[in-house]
Amino acid sequence: MRATVDRPGLDSQGRAPKVQIRRVRKGDLSKVRDVIEQTFGDFLERQLGTRPRQAFGGAQYVHHRWLMEPWGCFVAEEDQSKIVGAAVGVTWGSLGLIGPVAVLTNYQNQTIGQQLVRAVLEFFDENKTSLQGCVTYPTSPKHLYLYHKFGYKPKGLMAIVSRAIERTPMKGLPPRPTKTGLTARRFSTLEEAKKKAALGRVHRITNAICRGLDLAKEIEIVDGLALGDTLLVERGRDLVGFAIFHTPGVSEAPAGALYVKFLAIDPHQRRVEYLEHFVALLEDLAHEIGVQRVILPVYLHYWVAYSTLVKCAYQVDFTMVRMQRGKLEDYEDPTHLVLDDWR
Ligand SMILES: CC(C)(COP(=O)(O)OP(=O)(O)OC[C@H]1O[C@@H](n2cnc3c(N)ncnc32)[C@H](O)[C@@H]1OP(=O)(O)O)[C@@H](O)C(=O)NCCC(=O)NCCS
Repeated sequence: MRATVDRPGLDSQGRAPKVQIRRVRKGDLSKVRDVIEQTFGDFLERQLGTRPRQAFGGAQYVHHRWLMEPWGCFVAEEDQSKIVGAAVGVTWGSLGLIGPVAVLTNYQNQTIGQQLVRAVLEFFDENKTSLQGCVTYPTSPKHLYLYHKFGYKPKGLMAIVSRAIERTPMKGLPPRPTKTGLTARRFSTLEEAKKKAALGRVHRITNAICRGLDLAKEIEIVDGLALGDTLLVERGRDLVGFAIFHTPGVSEAPAGALYVKFLAIDPHQRRVEYLEHFVALLEDLAHEIGVQRVILPVYLHYWVAYSTLVKCAYQVDFTMVRMQRGKLEDYEDPTHLVLDDWR
């Protein structure tokens, strides 16, 4: 479905404004990536005192998200020739996620960021999302102010945690679960006809976590572009849980790491051992593909999940704050075993 912002928009004298918001076109993609990386490079340099060699450590966000949700991606263009900002939105069923949003440093504080956010929110309205989320920098007054203007409220911290994978297991870790009766399959190995049924089973899990939440598009794009894969863990005929992971290349995984975008265990079958089992499987996969680190996202409201990862020797790399607008009450249950990244 499309939003209604592909209009030129004229000022009071009938002139086209200097900077216009329009949808991303295929030919824009590498420029959009440059604008986002340049902007975040500047921002992180101001925050950290040194410029990171790569703003996202080699992770990429633009190309596959645009393929997945072309109507959700917008640019700000000056004089119909120079891209000076961009915003990417995706919908996971009832949940609309915005990010990254970036405006070139020299163009900031001229309301371009707000125009981009507004365009993505219109797109979410068109798609009837009931909840809109993002993550941002908890120490930045500007980010808080900007999202507050659109009705976003801070919810809580999310952490990106990781662990270096050693060849020999570390002492003191929980023993690897062996008698769980679980089996694992990869989505990519299923016959085409079985993939649809698997997506239906995944949807039953996400719907039990948050009504209308649907990750099918994420699973399909990861499969279609071989960005990684989705691990399906079963007990007998029941799907216990799934994990969408990215591996380095042109995906959201930074160089040298296996990165989990979304993992969920069926709330009706939640057992901490199952999450430990998933973590062990993901670490084995990391070994198999020859990367040195596993990166997991965790929203700290999912306290049992966070505590389990700490027990598995995962350390926090950095934290951000989750923001939300729309449906007011929090749906997250602290005992749900969910790892979801809203970046
Ligand atoms: C965040 C970002 C996209 C905003 O874009 P922008 O074009 O500068 O934003 P706008 O000009 O539309 O709006 C900024 C608002 O913050 C206000 N602001 C600026 N500095 C502020 C501060 N220190 N405290 C409070 N408000 C501040 C501005 O006055 C403006 O509000 P107003 O129009 O009501 O006066 C841009 O700064 C950016 O690209 N930053 C680096 C990348 C990034 O952090 N992306 C977002 C990650 S969630």
